[in-house]
Amino acid sequence: MKSLSVLASLSLLALTFPFAIASDPSQLQDFCVGVNTPADGVYVNGKYCKDPSLATADDFFFTGLNETQDTDNELGSFVTFASADNVPGLNTLGISFARADFAVNGLIPAHFHPRSSEILGVSQGTLLVGFVTSDKRLFTKTINVGDVFVFPQGQVHLAANVGKVPAVAFAALNSQNPGTTYISETVFGSNPPINPDVLAKAFRLDVTAIMDLQAKFDDSSNIKTY
Ligand SMILES: *[C@@H]1O[C@H](CO)[C@@H](O)[C@H](O)[C@H]1NC(C)=O
Repeated sequence: MKSLSVLASLSLLALTFPFAIASDPSQLQDFCVGVNTPADGVYVNGKYCKDPSLATADDFFFTGLNETQDTDNELGSFVTFASADNVPGLNTLGISFARADFAVNGLIPAHFHPRSSEILGVSQGTLLVGFVTSDKRLFTKTINVGDVFVFPQGQVHLAANVGKVPAVAFAALNSQNPGTTYISETVFGSNPPINPDVLAKAFRLDVTAIMDLQAKFDDSSNIKTY
């Protein structure tokens, strides 16, 4: 009798356990405001799904990552993303890919991807890469052709060309829509601006220094957001 009830509770546990550890699906976009009727617009996983019988090879194809991009901008860098936005076949697959071009001394400034980790490999030149954890530890390395470096999800990271020639890197990310949040752009270039007194206190600067930064980031967008 006793062993029977143990068996029964064990099988009950086995039945319920998988549900107990299940979690909500991760976000595929910055936010998804709930609506009550389809008439207000419904998105499934960020995009509608095409009728599978109408899918073609081009839905899974992206070309142009062999092309050197123009890095003649303030940062001396350019990122080309192959994500669900321009490779529709990536929808719901949870991966994307990018090419980064760096001029000599070019930089991709501190940013994070809210929805993905990243593995970045150098195909030309030398990069200084690193990420900083929430407890302020810096993990950094100088990487060359054939080397890869990993930026864990949500960690602030950057990459700078420290070589004597232009650099190229390719990166794979585990989200179809990783999102890119640049620290300086969001803090100093938000629209509308954050109250400068609040930023002055947070950054231990005087208000004029903050307003100067806000003016610099106000319209500066050679940065693309994803
Ligand atoms: C990149 O590839 C495309 C398609 O194959 C080709 O037309 C183009 O010439 C290539 N560009 C370079 C710079 O190799």
